[in-house]
Amino acid sequence: MITTLDGKVAIVTGGASGIGAACSRVLAASGVAVMIADRNLPLAEALAEELGAAAVEVDVADEESCQRMVAATEKRFGRLDIAVNNAGVGNPDRSRIAELAYATWLNIVNINLNGVFLSIKAEVPAMLRGGGGSIVNIASIMGCVAVEGAASYVSAKHGVVGLTKAAALDYAPDGIRVNAVGPGFVDTPMLANRTPEQRAALDAAHPLGRIATAEEIANVVAFLASPDAAFVTGAYYTADGGYAAR
Ligand code: NAI
Repeated sequence: MITTLDGKVAIVTGGASGIGAACSRVLAASGVAVMIADRNLPLAEALAEELGAAAVEVDVADEESCQRMVAATEKRFGRLDIAVNNAGVGNPDRSRIAELAYATWLNIVNINLNGVFLSIKAEVPAMLRGGGGSIVNIASIMGCVAVEGAASYVSAKHGVVGLTKAAALDYAPDGIRVNAVGPGFVDTPMLANRTPEQRAALDAAHPLGRIATAEEIANVVAFLASPDAAFVTGAYYTADGGYAAR
């Protein structure tokens, strides 16, 4: 249980569903004022009402939209201490590179990598105004290994890991820590279209014998966001049930 986040202010992008919703819940339960930022505003507003949080519409692939997200957070809560850059979309199909439409590649990279860059770019000035902060980017186990037929997703997530290290070095002197979490497969709406056979294969791919719950990932995020991880920056922190240890 994280007990040291009382009074902090956080943004969670993609905070209305799946891992992001679990992060919103865990942070709110730890005393954090949470801005749930999502392109699905009705879903974000419903969760915000349940948690006593706030909601804002954002498209993380749009620079001005990210700037508005941070401005709305400072206007509502007066500061920004924590950012969980989680918004992302799944691998759309299993195309190998020669058959992968360039438009598909661009869409995945735009949301899953450029969206993290644009979010950090908007969040840092607000954190600097408050004297520091903690950024947690949701990468994936696909940030350090690959699977067949997922070039755009794998490349974007590897990019998030590199971006995390670069941002950590840029802002270490200013008291902003930047880390990434690498979840294995997680039981969220992103996996909703898998068949029972595919789900069983995913369970078996993890040495712990199952995929994760969203809350198990959110607990790692909350740890990294907290002063308990005060000496952790530039880290890629796996939470993958042993997936990448094989
Ligand atoms: P999800 O589909 O349940 O939730 C994603 C949320 O992001 C949704 O609320 C959606 O509206 C929002 N979103 C999508 N594009 C957006 C955009 N351009 N701007 C703002 N919001 C946007 O997905 P899930 O599974 O919770 O995924 C969250 C993150 O975790 C993603 O970055 C994903 O790549 C990553 N991840 C997921 C894993 C899984 O097995 N579910 C495994 C490893 C990483």
